[in-house]
Amino acid sequence: MAGHTGEGSLWGGRFSAGPDEALARLSKSTHFDWRLVPYDLDATAAHARALCSAGHLSTEDLATVVAALATIREDFHEGRVQPSDVDEDVHGALERILIGRIGETLGGSLRAGRSRNDQIATFVRMYARDSARSIRTHLLEFARIIIQRSEDVGDAAMPGRTHFQHAQPVLVAHYLLAHAWPLVRDIQRLDDWASRNGVSPYGGGALAGGGLSLDPEAIAHELGFDAVSPNSLDGTSSRDVVTEFMYIAAQIGIDLSRLAEEVIIYSSAEFSYMTLDDAFATGSSMMPQKKNPDIAELTRGKSGRLIGNLTGLLATLKGLPLAYNRDLQEDKEPLFDSVDTLLLILPAMAGLMSSLQFNLDQMHANAAAGFSLATDVADHLVRTGVPFREAHEIVGELVAHCERQGIELHEVSDEQLAGISPDLTPDVRNSMSVEFSLGAKGGVGGTAAHQVAAQRSELSALIQLLDRD
Ligand code: ARG
Repeated sequence: MAGHTGEGSLWGGRFSAGPDEALARLSKSTHFDWRLVPYDLDATAAHARALCSAGHLSTEDLATVVAALATIREDFHEGRVQPSDVDEDVHGALERILIGRIGETLGGSLRAGRSRNDQIATFVRMYARDSARSIRTHLLEFARIIIQRSEDVGDAAMPGRTHFQHAQPVLVAHYLLAHAWPLVRDIQRLDDWASRNGVSPYGGGALAGGGLSLDPEAIAHELGFDAVSPNSLDGTSSRDVVTEFMYIAAQIGIDLSRLAEEVIIYSSAEFSYMTLDDAFATGSSMMPQKKNPDIAELTRGKSGRLIGNLTGLLATLKGLPLAYNRDLQEDKEPLFDSVDTLLLILPAMAGLMSSLQFNLDQMHANAAAGFSLATDVADHLVRTGVPFREAHEIVGELVAHCERQGIELHEVSDEQLAGISPDLTPDVRNSMSVEFSLGAKGGVGGTAAHQVAAQRSELSALIQLLDRD
């Protein structure tokens, strides 16, 4: 429509004609920003109160606006309001709907003193804040499941690996808890991020600040922020708060994908360390015998898109001049996708982990394979006074001997031991057991049973503390 603001749009007065259809299609964001409706309604109510306090809106009009916003909110939750074809974005759509209920004069007066630039910067922070809370709850639950499973597996051992080769035996419980700590750090990262996200850009206007003496602090507090952005240019245009959030989302994906990868490998026939519960496994359309770890595979796969969402937005932001640029609209789809993705994979992986069967006999039986006790033998020699460099060499020879003979370390006779080195006296056999090896790792963070129990208590206490926050 020429010369005035079209329905569902928030600009138009200086244009001789309405937007070309290609522009309208490109510009439209309602198909993704519609999920910000609750935040827009919150902020519009707060804004109306600020307009009233500053004398730009009567108390009767304020009451009318607030009541209308409440009905829109109810209709939104019931699915009774939708964006229409004419709407450019969520802000335009809500103004159109509000005008439909309280008329153009009052409905059209609420845009005073604010801009979509400070609005969207605020709403995206509010959305990320609420999403962080849901993700946090899932992470806490996940960490608790791992703690429970680490109790279920008792004192069973398994091969610990480096370079994916047998390295040294570890308790299965120790191994499981190693997957919980990174997730707890992710919770702490979210909390740390939240402290930086507590700053409201609202009141920054288009870029320079609002011109109607509204109180940005009152609005910030009403919307749950701790403070107002001290610089309106920065507040309206920076999106590091979004990329930082998306980094944490990507890190969670990476942490989960490592666990997922191990579930995939360890549930294969060659390992048989783990068996997937039927409810958390899938079948094949062709091969009747198949039981596939799709949850773990999709988690591994989707961690790729979490990384992509982050790097894509970083690329969008690179080199953008101050202040608001329309490029910034590109922050929302990847952010929403990262949140949706985590809220899909976290409950699925939690279900998989809580129902996973650990084949402890199989894991334990392999704990000493691949000469994984060789370091314990070398440590024994050190205890008898042999320098480690020499001990390393002696045990290396012992391993080579065993490999040639096709036997395990403990199968070597006393004569053969003595033949390799006079330091290899029969009491060296004490060090050739998984139990001895585990018990020897008794320092903080080691895999000895008492340290793993202490570690579990520490983790449980930390989770309880984080749950109260
Ligand atoms: N939809 C935009 C965004 O997501 C906000 C609108 C700002 N548009 C504008 N022309 N200033 O960033």
